[in-house]
Amino acid sequence: MKKIYLYGNWKMNMLPFEGEEFCRTLGNKMQGDIYSSEMIQVCLFPPFLSIPEVLKSLPEDVPVTCGAQDGYFEDRGAFTGEVSMDMVKAVGCSHVLAGHSERRHIFGESNEIVAKKLAKALEAGLKAVLCFGETLDERESGKTLAVAREQLESAFSGLEKDKGCGIILAYEPVWAIGTGKNARPEDAQEVCGFAAKMAEEHFGTHPKIPVLYGGSVKESNALDLLSQHDIDGALVGGASLKVDSFLGIYENYRTISV
Ligand code: PGA
Repeated sequence: MKKIYLYGNWKMNMLPFEGEEFCRTLGNKMQGDIYSSEMIQVCLFPPFLSIPEVLKSLPEDVPVTCGAQDGYFEDRGAFTGEVSMDMVKAVGCSHVLAGHSERRHIFGESNEIVAKKLAKALEAGLKAVLCFGETLDERESGKTLAVAREQLESAFSGLEKDKGCGIILAYEPVWAIGTGKNARPEDAQEVCGFAAKMAEEHFGTHPKIPVLYGGSVKESNALDLLSQHDIDGALVGGASLKVDSFLGIYENYRTISV
């Protein structure tokens, strides 16, 4: 049975008190669920300022970890507005996202910048969730796999084989993010399978690098996507903002993990 990953990306949503309420409810529902908590890894990615509140509000025996949505590739210095990977780690985060499509497309992050952030996150001892995926234009012109290759090759190049154990991949087609249109499971599988193979070629087979799918994942489609061979879980945006919809996905995953 495969290990399942359920990650919630809150983006620029949730004030600290809202994050606290969410985590208290989540904690109450998940407390004591030892078996599935071993099988399903849950991580929340709040905005920076809500991270301390989230960490404080999760009961100790609830195995939900916390990650940051971004981190910079320099250690310290005159980089107004930025947060270093060491800071992300020091505040108690276990994970960080790198290369989310909103960072790439709204904030102009190139493959080179994403590669530097990924390397710095791993150096800091964080688990790094490397996001990649094509735009609608790229898909319609048949470039889906070429884009995936380019984004992944650039991010992997320069990383030693042993760094693979810190990486989680998240295939997020840009046209599916926040649109309500998820990729068909078999289309998502094609790209996730391709990514899994590229990761294996670069980092080897042990440990296997998980590949998540993201883009309009919700309770009603989460299991169909997860049933694909190379999809190990989901990076969820919109449906992670309400505790009921997030728990709905968790409960669905739970049915196959127990
Ligand atoms: P969505 O976002 O679930 O709202 O489509 C996913 C993401 O951007 O990580």
